[in-house]
Amino acid sequence: MTDTVFTRKPLLAGNWKMHGLQADARQLAEALIPQLSPLSSIDRLVCPPFLHVGLVKQALAGHDIAVGGQDCSSQASGAYTGDISASMLKDAGASHVILGHSERRQYHGENGIVLKAKIEQARAANLMIVFCVGETKAIREAGQSEAIVLEQLRDVLAVLNVADCVIAYEPVWAIGTGLTASPEDAQSMHRTIRTFLQENLADGAKMRILYGGSVKPDNALTLSQQPDIDGFLVGGASLKAADFGAIGSALAQAKNS
Ligand code: PGA
Repeated sequence: MTDTVFTRKPLLAGNWKMHGLQADARQLAEALIPQLSPLSSIDRLVCPPFLHVGLVKQALAGHDIAVGGQDCSSQASGAYTGDISASMLKDAGASHVILGHSERRQYHGENGIVLKAKIEQARAANLMIVFCVGETKAIREAGQSEAIVLEQLRDVLAVLNVADCVIAYEPVWAIGTGLTASPEDAQSMHRTIRTFLQENLADGAKMRILYGGSVKPDNALTLSQQPDIDGFLVGGASLKAADFGAIGSALAQAKNS
């Protein structure tokens, strides 16, 4: 297990989703270098669409900014039209993969069974896993947020591992909506997740837990100041180099002070 994992080194991750052509990806990667390079006290990761992983890796060569995929197949290889395996991602230059994002759960019907298999594939390919959990608006209004988030963790508990997994708590109602969980609500859920991991997993309290959902430069500092928020998974604001850089600076500042 690396020191980075043991010390919960803050992680800033960008999820580019299905945005941009090759030239846009290259341009964004190049623009990120001056923004992110000085922030060596935090880990930095960008997750472009599959097709751009190789070129983004190339554009970032020589800089300590990791590249990840946004998903991978639950199978190692074979007749799975349209799928991308974890080892293909690794081969293209990825070191990480996002799994269980709410958009995969919602639009592709991904559930605990398939996500368990995906985690195992990612681990076999030596990829670091960013595993997403989060409740919908209806669940929150019904007062079931914690129960659902813990159920999503329980689904994959048997394959979670502090050495190569990071959790991202992303309330679905906050993703791409401009609504953010208040720092107190986010902290409270992160604490719940950490307690659960501590009680159910070896070294579980050391798992990094990211917050995601409309993270922007103007809310990044107060979120970063919460003791159980170890970083961010950023969608929309990760497509603007200056905004992503500002979020990273806020994170680095809060965690170093
Ligand atoms: P958002 O997306 O920052 O645009 O809300 C976050 C995510 O989906 O990872």
